[in-house]
Amino acid sequence: MSRPRGTLALLIHGGTDNWSPERWKTRFDAVCADRPVFLLPDETLDPAEVRYAAVWKPRPGELAAFANLRVIFNLGAGVDALIADASLPKLPIVRVAVDDLTKRMTEYVVLHVLAHHRQEIYLRESQREKRWEPKTQWPAGAISVGIMGLGNLGADAAEALKILGFKVSGWSRSEKNISGVSCFHGMDGLAPFLKKTNILVCLLPLTAETRHILNRSLLSMLDRDSPLGAPVLINAGRGGLQNEAELLACLNDGTLGAATLDVFETEPLPKESPFWTHRKVLITPHNAADTDPDAISKYVAVQIERHEAGQTLQNVVDMRRGY
Ligand code: NAP
Ligand code: GLV
Repeated sequence: MSRPRGTLALLIHGGTDNWSPERWKTRFDAVCADRPVFLLPDETLDPAEVRYAAVWKPRPGELAAFANLRVIFNLGAGVDALIADASLPKLPIVRVAVDDLTKRMTEYVVLHVLAHHRQEIYLRESQREKRWEPKTQWPAGAISVGIMGLGNLGADAAEALKILGFKVSGWSRSEKNISGVSCFHGMDGLAPFLKKTNILVCLLPLTAETRHILNRSLLSMLDRDSPLGAPVLINAGRGGLQNEAELLACLNDGTLGAATLDVFETEPLPKESPFWTHRKVLITPHNAADTDPDAISKYVAVQIERHEAGQTLQNVVDMRRGY
């Protein structure tokens, strides 16, 4: 029997609270009206019925089973894990670009820029050791924050940092013009961008071009002439953006003064990783900006309606660029 509306299949392999597949199914049922929604695996589903798939880290080859699939919705902003699957059907992939996720990332960036600017690592250490030894404070305007990636996330974080009084610059692939932000682009713009950056925030996608871009050569170009002394790295993009051996060496020899790391090459971060106990490092477990099932299920439902009404899909991944 044919279904009334294009069937949506959910393939969610997250492993953390936020990625509880049942939670996503409940939200999708609520926003998809009479559209059939199947949480896989489900033996009652005929794969030929599936028109849409909403996925997080589907297993390689899993999506190739749906012969009549039309659109793939990635339930996160970064598509690196998804497009690494060589058997992925050649269909439009829509990624997440919603205010809810953007604002969560901006909170994270502001929190950690402020943490380093206000010397939180030193202050927490002082508290543990019961040392009443205040250090000189400086204004936000004394610090230049440079954001790698001026897309949905980077551009919003830049606005918030600007309001706090930081000097803000950004680097992207294409030329940008953002009021109050010094914008650099392309490989020619990278060195001048780094040379004026004290706190480097990385919000790039992981692609063939950006893999291991956070390496010794790049980190050595950051500006050391600020009240912070040595520069600071905040990486909330992807772990594959950082060369971890070189990053660790840069923290150990003072090339970097400190780092906040939300993402790692291997996640969960193995217990034996030296980053866990490094006194200059703040670690968060890849939850800088969670994708919220309420907000994201609505976004996907709207996109499906647009598609069925013959309108263009939004935020479609450019497979040549890889993001
Ligand atoms: P986006 O809107 O696609 O923006 C990506 C930005 O990176 C763009 O400004 C792009 O330049 C720039 N870029 C890409 N490749 C470049 C290159 N080779 N050289 C210079 N600039 C380059 O992506 P987004 O929504 O902001 O998300 C960014 C990334 O954040 C995601 O891909 C994901 O990996 C990560 N993320 C992490 C979390 C977390 O919880 N840790 C949550 C969400 C997302 P153009 O503007 O010129 O295209
Ligand atoms: C999370 O990491 C995302 O890409 O949305």
